Amino acid sequence: MADIKRIGVITSGGDCGGLNAVIKGIAREAYALGIESVVIPNGYAGLYNLVDLPEVVLLNAERVSRIEASLAGSEAGHSRVKISKIDDPNKYERIKEGLKKFGIDALIISGGDDTGSVVVDLSEKGIPCVHVPKTMDLDLQPYSVGGDSTINRISVFARDLKTTGLSHNRILVIEVFGRYVGHTAFRGGVGAEVDCILIPEIPVDFDVVYEHMKLTYFGRIERSDVKAGTYIIVAAEGMKAASGEMLYDESAGVDAFGHKKLAGAGRYVRQQLEKRLKADPEVFEFMKRVGMYAPGIYVVPEVREVTPGHLVRSGQSSAFDVVFGQRAGAVAVFLLLEGKTGHTVVNVVGDKVYYMPTAEAIKRREVDLEEIALFESLGTCFGRRPQKYHYKLIETLEPKRRHV
Ligand code: F6P
Repeated sequence: MADIKRIGVITSGGDCGGLNAVIKGIAREAYALGIESVVIPNGYAGLYNLVDLPEVVLLNAERVSRIEASLAGSEAGHSRVKISKIDDPNKYERIKEGLKKFGIDALIISGGDDTGSVVVDLSEKGIPCVHVPKTMDLDLQPYSVGGDSTINRISVFARDLKTTGLSHNRILVIEVFGRYVGHTAFRGGVGAEVDCILIPEIPVDFDVVYEHMKLTYFGRIERSDVKAGTYIIVAAEGMKAASGEMLYDESAGVDAFGHKKLAGAGRYVRQQLEKRLKADPEVFEFMKRVGMYAPGIYVVPEVREVTPGHLVRSGQSSAFDVVFGQRAGAVAVFLLLEGKTGHTVVNVVGDKVYYMPTAEAIKRREVDLEEIALFESLGTCFGRRPQKYHYKLIETLEPKRRHV
């Protein structure tokens, strides 16, 4: 057992649901074991500046009870700072001095792939730390806290937008965060029963999307007794066009980790559909048939894009993330005590605590396209010609316990 008297808690990268549950899980488990835990504020920026802080917040019973586990975001604060990129040759010594100043023996750090790469780095530099997986993008190997909350929020937004879509007979494109993978767009979109989901894993053929849209949206309005219909698309911010055309607003710049800020997918989808609607003579006939046509004003259906941005990761955490967060935070304390520095919590199943090397945990996980084919067979468009779903029946007594 490692001799740990005080743990520093860091949250890093983008905020999301479930993080306060992680903090509470760490603090309460540590407390139960007679170990103190303190907040290192503002992610890795705070770790670098720890030595200059006059004090740190002790997560005692009273302070912890004031943290609301079901609120998204993090009481510990965030920043996107990669320690190795800080322009200071003494940065690691400075961090060690800060930890010494406050008697912090080890760190529990919650974050995504970039944060995890710093966990590996700090660990190699002799700073004991373990990693609790967190990212709304769900692109880590294990489940990461925040994913379920985001999926639920995307679902609610997409479902709610149907009322305005139906009232105006609009085609609505909702652009959602998710970086280079489509996990949350996919699950959130399916959860809201949207018509079309565009994800980075499938380069989009807009002729296919247009055909699907025409069939679905035109049909809906024609069948409706009040001539109402909408068509909802969820587009992941990292989606690509099969044509190879650039989708993004290059002026958006890069974040502090050096990643290109993704922006413009929704606008691009809207433009692609508008172009096709305007060039299609059948659209004019349709508009007249269903009574939508107003000469000089309304000659093709409207396509609008909506970008909820940070709303998909803010507000309330899902119950699943509150449960997962508390469990993962609590068992991260055990990993530290067992000397598992440089490792990531994977899951807890009964009395079994699963973990893996952080260097493995942060390898990018993409959406499984086999599963996409299943949803294509149910009628959802994914921007390609639907593919056949090939199933294999596997009898098992040990179900895989991955969330998504
Ligand atoms: O990685 C999480 C994430 O929400 C991405 O999906 C998104 O591209 C990015 O963070 C946005 O980052 P920021 O909050 O720094 O604008």
